[in-house]
Amino acid sequence: MHTNKLVVVGAGHVGSYVLADAMKIGLFAEIGVIDILGNVAFGEALDQAQATALPYMSNIKVTSGGYEQCADADVIVVAAGPSVIRDPENPKAEPDRTLLTTTNCKVIREVMAGIVKHTTEAIVILITNPLDTMVYIAENEFGYPRGRIFGTGTMLDSARLRKVVADAYGIDPKSVTGFMMGEHGSTAFPVLSHVNVAGIPFAELDRHFEALGDIRSPETVKARVISAAYDVFNGKGWTNAGVAQSAVTMARAVLLDERSVFPACTTLRGQYGHDGDVALSMPCLLGREGIVKQLPVGLNAWEAEKLAESIAFIQATMRDAGT
Ligand code: LAC
Repeated sequence: MHTNKLVVVGAGHVGSYVLADAMKIGLFAEIGVIDILGNVAFGEALDQAQATALPYMSNIKVTSGGYEQCADADVIVVAAGPSVIRDPENPKAEPDRTLLTTTNCKVIREVMAGIVKHTTEAIVILITNPLDTMVYIAENEFGYPRGRIFGTGTMLDSARLRKVVADAYGIDPKSVTGFMMGEHGSTAFPVLSHVNVAGIPFAELDRHFEALGDIRSPETVKARVISAAYDVFNGKGWTNAGVAQSAVTMARAVLLDERSVFPACTTLRGQYGHDGDVALSMPCLLGREGIVKQLPVGLNAWEAEKLAESIAFIQATMRDAGT
């Protein structure tokens, strides 16, 4: 009898949180862990396995090992590779983004080579940065069925957007509808023309709620959302909780065939005038087969300009990666 199985590739700060979140939602009967450091995968799996004896945990079979664990996986979450690379001689300098890109291109190609040896059925959800370039490589270099690979993209950026708007007006972030598009990174942009609270458009919120902060300009909102990631990063040196929850939420939408609409990163197939030359985030319908449909929402002039800037930035990163 088939039981729901997740495999987590990369058991570092992010992957270990993906594992922990997946254990708690109790949707997977089996979870496999893979890490380049076998002892880390073993330790993370054993730590969680021992916790299954606690009252509120499910009796999930947790294993560690190689890519053979992917053979019967329903979902594979990839969080392998470093999240930042700094010059050891000068740790306070800006992280080396080009080195991160070239390093993680190699990592993603190794991970995908391991996965395709055992499956082309599983839905692969990528987290590794620079995310959009990683998704482009994984989607377009391994002949994997279209739609079955995507990235968390601006799923977390969109949560941060909803939080920024909610905090500015003193409301529950879950009551804010809205999303970011484009790159998962500094060129992501808020689609404010579609942000609303109970149908009240973003531009009219201050007619209904006392504005606790000035976020009327799109550039201000964009800057606030982008800096939210750096606020966490500068606090603890990495980010993991938000993106792990994002990945597990998307995995649940796949496993339960929820047909949820989430911003996800995948290669454009003709949307916004781009066909196969870039991967980025836009609203997508997610179900058991992964990306069921991309939803190229209408953009106003500012949003269309930001999309063009984001595409140019992603394609420059892709050139750094030699893709
Ligand atoms: C962040 C990392 C996952 O945005 O890129 O928190």
